[in-house]
Amino acid sequence: MMFKYTTGAIAALAIGTFAAGGAFAQDTVKIGLIISMTGQQASTGKQVKAGVDLYMKEHGDMVAGKKIQVILRDSGSVPDNTKRLAQELIVNDKVNVIAGFEITPAALVVAPLATEAKVVEVVMAAGTSIITEKSPYIVRTSFTVPQSCVIIADWAAKNKIKKVVTIVSDYAPGFDAEKSFTERFKAAGGTVAEAIRVPLANPDFSPFLQRAADAKPDAIFIFVPSGQGGSFMKQFAERGLDKAGIKLIGPGDVTDDDLLPGMGDAAIGTVTAHFYSADHNSAMNKAYVAAFEKANHFRPGFMSVGGYDGMNLIYSALKKTGGKADGDSLIAAMKGMKWESPRGPISIDPDTRDIIQNIYIRKVEKKNGQLYNVEFETFKDVKDPVKAAMKK
Ligand code: PHB
Repeated sequence: MMFKYTTGAIAALAIGTFAAGGAFAQDTVKIGLIISMTGQQASTGKQVKAGVDLYMKEHGDMVAGKKIQVILRDSGSVPDNTKRLAQELIVNDKVNVIAGFEITPAALVVAPLATEAKVVEVVMAAGTSIITEKSPYIVRTSFTVPQSCVIIADWAAKNKIKKVVTIVSDYAPGFDAEKSFTERFKAAGGTVAEAIRVPLANPDFSPFLQRAADAKPDAIFIFVPSGQGGSFMKQFAERGLDKAGIKLIGPGDVTDDDLLPGMGDAAIGTVTAHFYSADHNSAMNKAYVAAFEKANHFRPGFMSVGGYDGMNLIYSALKKTGGKADGDSLIAAMKGMKWESPRGPISIDPDTRDIIQNIYIRKVEKKNGQLYNVEFETFKDVKDPVKAAMKK
């Protein structure tokens, strides 16, 4: 914009700008989007970015008289990079919002910066329950891992699954998954024969799958983050566990639509609870999937809707504040917001700033020759069960 003015006017302009609190800055709302476009979690970054891009393609880049500018930064899947990039975006670029965060450690390292700078942090991907408690400026449009785990625990107990081995990635959301599933499953009369944790980085599941099989469970409960379901399923099949009558259950991260089309028949019959399936039967989702596939030539996964809805939350909050983009105004506007997403109806819990959404139970089936998570039961308006229990 500066180029519109002659050099002679720049000094006066600079003073005027300063006095007005940044006239240029006020015309533009900047969103610092920090996600992993490379490294282990690159598939999450790709999905989130595609969701953000599609939202902007459909809704334009002007809201409440403001131009929306997204500044994309690649974390390389390294949380320390996320912290440095967030600092730069806040201090140098003066972003109004920071968003993205492919894994829990990335969302957590930014929390103190969001608090100090009073900048809204929109968590579009990470899923550990505690994240939203780490700053009053954090709001989440993805999910909490326990939201799905307690529901699959109830389903398992009601469906003749008595003995389970849990396998989870050895970091925060894995601990959330293991704990929330185990507590609920045991309360419903089930037993957990073994609780196995697998390294997050480059996991080799084979030895852990053998240990799990040796315990002869009715089912394996599996949590791996988005991006790892493909290699897990391959090793599950290689060990012959799909044929040994051991069911596979879990939150839906393992059968992420991003990788499901390439998983092969071993995935058929996997029952998961989760908030999004590309097969979700609504007019809005059908349009979403069609537009997304046209733009990207791959299927939208659950991480994409975190990005798409994150943008809707920011746009809607700006409409409500009349374009005011300071952290306090935006976060106040976001609390209690409700809308329809491709995943179904969602809202932001005004007390916790976490997402409230339907959780669906789904089974992997082949439809027209392609694997899908086919939803067959719906639990409406599910809050994060960990925070709900703490409030009691
Ligand atoms: C997380 O690190 O919070 C996370 C990442 C990917 C998932 C679930 C949780 O699929």
